[in-house]
Amino acid sequence: MLKLSDIHITFNAGTATEVRALRGISLDIAEGEFVTVIGSNGAGKSTLLSTVVGTAKPDTGSIHLAGNDVTNWPAARRASLVGRVFQEPRLGTCSSLSIEENLALAAARGKKRGLGLALGKRGQKKLFAEHLEKLGLGLEHRMATPIGALSGGQRQAVSLLMATLLPMKILVLDEHTAALDPSAAHKVLTLSAEIAGESRLTTLMVTHSMKDALAYGSRTLMMNAGQIVLDIAGEERSKLKVSDLLERFGRAAGTEIDDDQLMLT
Ligand SMILES: Nc1ncnc2c1ncn2[C@@H]1O[C@H](COP(=O)(O)OP(=O)(O)O)[C@@H](O)[C@H]1O
Ligand SMILES: [Mg+2]
Repeated sequence: MLKLSDIHITFNAGTATEVRALRGISLDIAEGEFVTVIGSNGAGKSTLLSTVVGTAKPDTGSIHLAGNDVTNWPAARRASLVGRVFQEPRLGTCSSLSIEENLALAAARGKKRGLGLALGKRGQKKLFAEHLEKLGLGLEHRMATPIGALSGGQRQAVSLLMATLLPMKILVLDEHTAALDPSAAHKVLTLSAEIAGESRLTTLMVTHSMKDALAYGSRTLMMNAGQIVLDIAGEERSKLKVSDLLERFGRAAGTEIDDDQLMLT
């Protein structure tokens, strides 16, 4: 479903601020797989997701997505294949527009596939209400409320819906619960797993929590200094505890991990 082959990205090449953000990333993710990604600050996690979304262009290497070589596709062209939710709730939604209007914008993404045309306004509203009801937050009764009036957690839940409203292939979540309080984060993570499971979406989720990295999904990647240093799934992963993960990180990266950089719980 998603295949990255030997991706390299260097920012500010040849200058004093040169950063080798990705140093030879190869990765094969099967359809329906839910992959969690951890790593210290600056490890290259967001850059990795940006190469999938199309907002970062590899210097070398190739990206295949759903049977297409998308290496040279700009982000807009990949929009029908990729849904993304950002860390910051404000980024994914338009504050001054209502919940319904935000969902309508998401539904209109890529004109040809616009839901509005097919369903009509009333049909579309009914569909939005059904989706919102599934979130279990009562937002189906508040469809005229401006998104800006919602809590961060409610907003991220709507962002998730917006990202997955149209048929797509891969859901990309970049620390999308990091700005939320623990209970809202838990709710949004649960919803993410439900939505991904229901539609059998291939999912890449960066998290700052080692515990969540093991609790959600079926495979975990650990990144360090632009490389994947650990890639575990199946039985090996199911037996793993946070303390083991930390120890494995130290071994794979050849350094002691700074406790401040990763949440251990
Ligand atoms: N647009 C950019 N320009 C220059 N440097 C960047 C840019 N984006 C990321 N970097 C650098 O690349 C490295 C990896 O960043 P990032 O992928 O955001 O790490 P992570 O998400 O794991 O914290 C960091 O050193 C970061 O400062
Ligand atoms: Mg990041």
